[in-house]
Amino acid sequence: MNNIRNFCIIAHIDHGKSTLADRLLEITGTVEKRKMKEQYLDQMELERERGITIKMAPVRMVYKPAEILNSKPEILNKSEIQNPKSLGFSVLNLEFANSEYILNLIDTPGHPDFGYEVSRALEAVEGAILLVDGTQGIQAQTLSNFYAAKKSGLKIIGAVNKVDLNIPDIEASVREVAQLLETSPDNIHRISGKTGYGVEELLKSVIQLVPPPKIIDENSPINRALIFDSFYDDHKGIVAVIRLFNGTVKNFNEVRLLAVNEKIKIKEVGFFVPQMKKVDEISDGEIGYIVTGLKDPHKIKIGDTVISQKSIRQPADKIQKLENYALPGYREPKPVVFVSFYPDDPDKHEELKRSLDRLKLNDASFVFEPDFSEVLGRGFKGGFLGKLHFEIISQRLEKEFGVKTITSFPSVAYKIKTKHLLKTFHGISKPDEEGFVTILNPKDLPDDYEEILEPMIKIEIICPNKLLGHVLGLKELFRWEDINTHMLADKIIVETIMPLAELISDFDDRLKSVSRGFASFSYESAGYKKNDLIRMDILVAGELVPGLSRILPKEGIEYEARKITKLLKETLPRQQFSQAIQAKAFGRIIARETIPALRKDVTGYLYGGDRTRKMKLWKKQKKGKKKLLSMAKVRISAEDFKKLLSK
Ligand code: GTP
Repeated sequence: MNNIRNFCIIAHIDHGKSTLADRLLEITGTVEKRKMKEQYLDQMELERERGITIKMAPVRMVYKPAEILNSKPEILNKSEIQNPKSLGFSVLNLEFANSEYILNLIDTPGHPDFGYEVSRALEAVEGAILLVDGTQGIQAQTLSNFYAAKKSGLKIIGAVNKVDLNIPDIEASVREVAQLLETSPDNIHRISGKTGYGVEELLKSVIQLVPPPKIIDENSPINRALIFDSFYDDHKGIVAVIRLFNGTVKNFNEVRLLAVNEKIKIKEVGFFVPQMKKVDEISDGEIGYIVTGLKDPHKIKIGDTVISQKSIRQPADKIQKLENYALPGYREPKPVVFVSFYPDDPDKHEELKRSLDRLKLNDASFVFEPDFSEVLGRGFKGGFLGKLHFEIISQRLEKEFGVKTITSFPSVAYKIKTKHLLKTFHGISKPDEEGFVTILNPKDLPDDYEEILEPMIKIEIICPNKLLGHVLGLKELFRWEDINTHMLADKIIVETIMPLAELISDFDDRLKSVSRGFASFSYESAGYKKNDLIRMDILVAGELVPGLSRILPKEGIEYEARKITKLLKETLPRQQFSQAIQAKAFGRIIARETIPALRKDVTGYLYGGDRTRKMKLWKKQKKGKKKLLSMAKVRISAEDFKKLLSK
């Protein structure tokens, strides 16, 4: 165990985690150079397409300094040879050079919507590289990830990246990181994930500074592992990603999944190299996978403990109650954005359910439950950690599972007080102790209610001092309250309270554009607040489109109504008949646009006065139109929703 190091790379989005991971894979010879491709660990098609990490990716690397030194003497850092003590130890240190280290790295996503992935990775490791882009310095997710890693008790090593770009004031970023880590700037690594500069030294620091895995209880009669991720493999079925905290797990072991109370016989154990590689056993302190043989995806719970008896000869009375061996696990993620999905074709309901089940296996933060719409039939209401999370899930549904869906407007959860009973798919909604009912889909908001509360967030924006004026310019547009500012080195932090609904409009894009990409933000929930809100419905060709209903502030609703009808006119496809788009609130139409028809003149080839033949054709056309109308269920892609939500 002394030669095992488990660590992850944490950073703000795009600061270079996956590129640094590439270099580590190369240095350790885990991936052959000819097979190397950029951001190797981002293996999901969507990750490569969008250039972002969505899933955490574990990889086991074996690092033999001596072997590498013999094959590549040029990587020896000259100053270190002359001054072996410069890093506290040196490649000339024979004990180090001749050792073999097992390095379990977990690459994590940077975007806040995938923060649950990061928090789970943090519980499976003992150390973290906090990576900061030298051109940008500390950003919001640098801070939130740093605090999370600190809370988990990890050893944190600071590194400033992209030094190959000849950044004029790289030392300013170094000072910022040093201040955050409360250490000297000399302890901050200056690296380039792109060229590999400084990466070997960083790896050595990981070995030197990150402690080997902790042994929870050496004499425990029980083997224990934490499930921190899972996925569905086409050949192997349901796979659980685990970190061993006690003992070993082997092929064909009988183990118990504690929380779901299920006994399974392990079909295979292995490591990620980064592909799955079968081995005989995974032992204490290591990270790997088990093929569970389970058929039902609901039997896998992220944060569950896998346990088995170390020896069958162990007297039963020596083993305490099994629940006592449960590892702390994880808090349940809290969805904040809700969207309903309905299959494009009602016959595909089962297929949609199966696909959502598999997605859930691979994304523990995604939750869903049955939903029903009179127009669209049976569907599912999904809960997401943010707007990007929703976009990614809906694109994965289409790309990975080939399932087309009709979705409702992304909404937040409102609380209302009403005298009427609210009917939902599950029956009647019961009010909470204070008499409030939660509404996840705007279509469910009744016309009259006594009070409505909306969810608020506390948002923290970090930006260079000189951009403060531009950032504060957003306060009217996004309904900010209680604005506070304070300094952090050369940057300023703006704290404010705003409705969560504003965040899921185009807040991120606006902030990016006013700050030219130099500001970033993180947020946490800040309870509920009473506001003056109302439901706005959209009717297309006279029909209510349930998915397009929204809950909006009464003030300025006419403007919003005109904007949305106009945008819908540009977004929706033309039909063979003209379609009116109307926005309705306060019981009346408050805005209207018309999509002109793609009219085909069906009587064009008839000349003369045979009125009856013309009538017959018109009637036929009218029938066709009616059929089309029923098919005109408005299908709006996640990207178009983004456009519709923009301010
Ligand atoms: P997310 O996982 O989406 O948060 O991104 P990431 O932190 O994994 O960043 P990624 O490795 O994808 O790098 C982001 C961009 O920065 C890419 O275009 C990289 O090519 C570039 N990049 C990363 N490291 C370096 C570096 O050392 N120098 C230079 N010049 N560019 C770099």
